[in-house]
Amino acid sequence: MNWQAQLIAADEDFAGAPLLRQEFRLDEGHGAVTRATLSLTAHGIVEAWLNGQRVSNDLLTPGWSSYEWRLRYATYDVTEQLADTCVLGLALGNGWFRGRLGWSGRGAFYGDELGAFAQLEIAFEDGTTQTVTTDESWSAGPSDVLVNDLYDGETIDAGLRDDAWLKPGFGADGWVGVHVLDLDTASLEPYIGPPVSAWNELPVQKMWTTESGKTLVDFGQNLVGWVRARVHGPAGSEVTLRHAEVLEDGELGTRPLRSALATDRFILSGGEDTFEPTFTFHGFRYAEVSGWPGELRPEDLTAVAIGSELERTGTFRTSDPMLNQFHENVVWGMRGNFVDVPTDCPQRDERLGWTGDIAAFAPTAAFLFNVDPFLSDWLRNVALEQAHHDGIIAYVVPDVLKYLDLPGSFPETESTAIWSDAGVWVPWALYQAYGDERILENQFESMVSHVRRVRSLLSPNGLWDTGFQFGDWLDPDAPPEDPIKAKADFGVVATACAYRSAAILAEAAQLLAREAEHAEFVELAADLRSAFNEHYVDGGRVFSDCTTVYALAIVFGLLDTVDEEAAGTRLAELVAESGYRISTGFAGTPFITDALTQTGHLEDAYRLLLQRECPSWLYPVTMGATTVWERWDSMLPDGSINPGEMTSFNHYALGAVADWMHRVVGGIAPLAPGYSRVLIAPQPGGGLTEAETALDTPHGRVTVRWIVAGDELTVDVDVPAGMEGVLRLPGQHDRALTTGHVSITVPIHPLVGEGR
Ligand code: BGC
Repeated sequence: MNWQAQLIAADEDFAGAPLLRQEFRLDEGHGAVTRATLSLTAHGIVEAWLNGQRVSNDLLTPGWSSYEWRLRYATYDVTEQLADTCVLGLALGNGWFRGRLGWSGRGAFYGDELGAFAQLEIAFEDGTTQTVTTDESWSAGPSDVLVNDLYDGETIDAGLRDDAWLKPGFGADGWVGVHVLDLDTASLEPYIGPPVSAWNELPVQKMWTTESGKTLVDFGQNLVGWVRARVHGPAGSEVTLRHAEVLEDGELGTRPLRSALATDRFILSGGEDTFEPTFTFHGFRYAEVSGWPGELRPEDLTAVAIGSELERTGTFRTSDPMLNQFHENVVWGMRGNFVDVPTDCPQRDERLGWTGDIAAFAPTAAFLFNVDPFLSDWLRNVALEQAHHDGIIAYVVPDVLKYLDLPGSFPETESTAIWSDAGVWVPWALYQAYGDERILENQFESMVSHVRRVRSLLSPNGLWDTGFQFGDWLDPDAPPEDPIKAKADFGVVATACAYRSAAILAEAAQLLAREAEHAEFVELAADLRSAFNEHYVDGGRVFSDCTTVYALAIVFGLLDTVDEEAAGTRLAELVAESGYRISTGFAGTPFITDALTQTGHLEDAYRLLLQRECPSWLYPVTMGATTVWERWDSMLPDGSINPGEMTSFNHYALGAVADWMHRVVGGIAPLAPGYSRVLIAPQPGGGLTEAETALDTPHGRVTVRWIVAGDELTVDVDVPAGMEGVLRLPGQHDRALTTGHVSITVPIHPLVGEGR
């Protein structure tokens, strides 16, 4: 791009929500306009209007990237919105750039002035172009927004609204000039990922007065976004909305939000007002409404769900309504945490791009939605942060922890297993799902420097057994206040993960014909594997003898055949000993059902999956959950909120088992990356009698339906034209699959169909 625009800031801050405007006339004598394109970005978040009309439905533009090195701009076709005299108006908010980030209570980590940057290029019939840009000739004024922060909420005063600023000839008191801020235009990049927008609206399901006299509304779904309110009341009166994901003792349960206020205030104009706080977002299912003039009716409030625009690709449904609800919870949790950055949670004073969470969840995400652009965009931030930090992939990306200055809370950032492995596991998950080698090419340097960094941290005995690790974070047996105290040995987890990353990287290097690196990482993987076996494995027992270490050793391929079988038996034993309640944290959870399946313990995997007692995947469903929780027991069986200071009700990581559900229950797995060849291998069990799973692969739609009736299994498969694959049914020889519909009935062990 040939940038002529300048980054401009209002001469007065106007409560962190200034408006900026410019009026101009279309150049004459060049014929009709053939195309007009607006490129837009900001320090902060920006919304744009041309001649009174929003230029797009995008929200929170330009999202959150590693601003130090990369600021994305959006591009809009505004040809239809031009007039002879035009007004271009921009509204700024604090967003991630200047708002609060993290739990230190502070913000403004990237800078303390908000700025807007816009370049409008108007092409005429005769080939000439008129360019209108943000520069010193713009003017700035106040908006109706008095307070705005992503965590704390927004205050809007409808009495201050006046659309005149978007019309020609506007000249109001109180408007001031602007000044130019420094911006390195080399840091400007187009979005790779999709914009954020509103994708759903939910009506009030229930409304009531609590014992303490508060008015509460329930939208029936834990979601991410805000409440749009339509209200008519005395000028200057104020309506307040507080948000929370859960109730406690019949009142709004706000403790899990920690310092995030999640409070919107609407000041009425005296007329018919609509409020929509687009410079904030909340994770909530309930809202407490106070100050409402007159009677509040359900239709006055609507919950608006926002998120990155993602195309839904995968669906899953079975005969078990609870399992279906769990799957829905996985989907909702993902939508709410894919708001430009893949975050841990959307509600408390955190909402950060925790790398370990997406390392666990990426394969599930890549089945449910097309996340190739979204995660490719984020991976670019990963690579940039890492390139400026000795090859270390930080705990969060964009890395704001480096600014938080939290003595004692974390050791200095260093590579850690799973979290830093996101740099290898996420691109690999994308490659498996979409088959596009470019993601490996683009991330190759980042992948290599991560694995080399890890190699530099190994002990002389070849293990990764020193330094800080999150390990099997949130093991259900760890005390609520100490989620790092897992049963699994840190070294076992870290060395296993190092092996997985080295092995993946060796394969990626081979695919990309990077021979030297291929040899380098084949050797490293082999060394890690033998060190692991030498120090941690004894006759099929893996050191620290708990479910997570077996799950990782089996699924990552760390064990020789005999040991693997013994490890599978031991894993099944431990799973039975725990009463089929879950016993794994972030590290083991994505892999435990695969480890059981792979070693011949499918029914144990099903018992674990379908367990309803706490802790388990379905326990939250029995408690009315509509998203996946951070902790297995974020809400305790007595309905109280877990006392740990870290208790979200919308965390996707533990939902990573859905990947196994899609492949093993549903039966759709890639046989080659991107499903150019597909493996249809449903393995019915757990008493499920039916399942239907579908996936829009890059090669077309695959559908698998199965029904167990008596001692027969009937499977219907649809495979798109040009796709080949294998149909593998229990107790049967593999069958070749080609285009079209196949329906097949085979005998099955009678026990499989009983129950649900
Ligand atoms: C986050 C996590 C994250 C973890 C690591 C938490 O506060 O919510 O999901 O991965 O910290 O320490």
